[in-house]
Amino acid sequence: MKENKATLTFDDGREPIDLPVLSGTLGPDVIDIRKLSAYNLFTFDPGFLSTASCDSGITYVDGERGMLYYRGYPIEQLARGSDFVEVCYLLLYGELPAPAQKARFSETLFSHALLHEQVNSFFRGFRRDAHPMSVMVGVVGALSSFYHDALDISDAAHRELSAFRLLAKLPTIAAWCYKYSIGQPFMYPQEGLGYAENFLYMMFATPSGSYRPDPVSVQAMDRILILHADHEQNASTSTVRLAGSSGANPFACIAAGLASLWGPAHGGANEAVVKMLEEIGDVSRIGQYVKRAKTKGDPFRLMGFGHRVYKNMDPRAEVMRATCHEVLDALGLEQDPLFKIALALESVALEDDYFIEKKLYPNVDFYSGIVLRALRIPTSMFTVIFALARTAGWVAQWNEMISDPQRKIGRPRQLYTGRALRDYVPLERREAPDPSTTG
Ligand code: ACO
Repeated sequence: MKENKATLTFDDGREPIDLPVLSGTLGPDVIDIRKLSAYNLFTFDPGFLSTASCDSGITYVDGERGMLYYRGYPIEQLARGSDFVEVCYLLLYGELPAPAQKARFSETLFSHALLHEQVNSFFRGFRRDAHPMSVMVGVVGALSSFYHDALDISDAAHRELSAFRLLAKLPTIAAWCYKYSIGQPFMYPQEGLGYAENFLYMMFATPSGSYRPDPVSVQAMDRILILHADHEQNASTSTVRLAGSSGANPFACIAAGLASLWGPAHGGANEAVVKMLEEIGDVSRIGQYVKRAKTKGDPFRLMGFGHRVYKNMDPRAEVMRATCHEVLDALGLEQDPLFKIALALESVALEDDYFIEKKLYPNVDFYSGIVLRALRIPTSMFTVIFALARTAGWVAQWNEMISDPQRKIGRPRQLYTGRALRDYVPLERREAPDPSTTG
């Protein structure tokens, strides 16, 4: 990294402070403020909108130009040419696997896809009507009690084994969450089926049937997994890193990431898209919903439109849009009323001045919600599938952080705005505060 400097000056006559300016391989420069604490100064940046929390070589997002790279490879190329297992390898090891490496990696993942049989009974402790994400958080967090033979995070081989276990077992856990919720028997991963294929098999097969996932659905699921595999230092990834910075075990860290992803502002958008389409209910009502979305003071927003980072097109949305059309076409669903509403809404919004001026394009969640529904995935499982995909990124980011010799426990500072020092008042001398003066 080349080094420039920025100088921090003060109005109160204090000496200026020189701060290094660091440049990465891509993206904006960053001002290295690490030494400020030695001057008893902190920066204030709620939501970390202007703060780089780490250096990372895994994923790069250029929101202005609508680009997303995994290890330097554009997402469009990976989505069209690669598969999710290869993308997991790429994120974890930094390079695409050679054929023999890929075959070995796939075999390794398959060999870890089973769950300890006692996890079965762990599931049975949950209510059947529990949200599958709450079950995921619990079961993934509990994995450390089943696989505690490889929890030495300073040992690279232990970290790798835990990464294999997480990547391999998440589809089984995810599918079992669904099976448990509908009271069907758990299905076990099948040799000879690919990663996405096995997931669909465990979701929809039954011991008495002969279900095999169709290739169009398998490819669509694989694409969804690739597109959601990583996205820089988003809330859940930062949560995984922060939890891991204390030395917590990887299963606990991924459970923390799951809990963060579960929030509606993060992983819940594609579920919200389908709910909105159901609420619209008919193509004839689109106009009134678009009008509401544009009305100042009305909190209603068109779900699946706009993005915090992508102010041009979300590159994942373009891939997902093509997949969406392929899936609807192949499964003969173009006439499904909900899909008709979705496609009509897409064209209305794309031609509307309000959406054009504010750069509100359909995002990946708009299309992934439609695709997942076409694959018969219940909406409550949408975030679970996002989590399944993002586990690849979480594991890679966690491993990168732990491998960094400069790793420090994450410990943000604050701007304290509470009461200044005051003396304790014994109970008998306290008066009830006047409610009109308390918040
Ligand atoms: N529908 C209608 N108006 C919108 C929408 C929308 N979906 N999104 C933004 N706007 C308007 C806002 O009202 C605001 O208008 P104003 O300037 O007149 O006040 C303007 O566009 C800017 O909105 P912000 O909320 O400031 O933009 P921000 O970049 O912070 O928000 C976000 C991005 C949260 C994604 C927003 O576009 C949104 O709520 N979209 C709907 C939810 C959604 O689809 N989320 C998924 C994101 S993708 C993902 O997580 C993988």
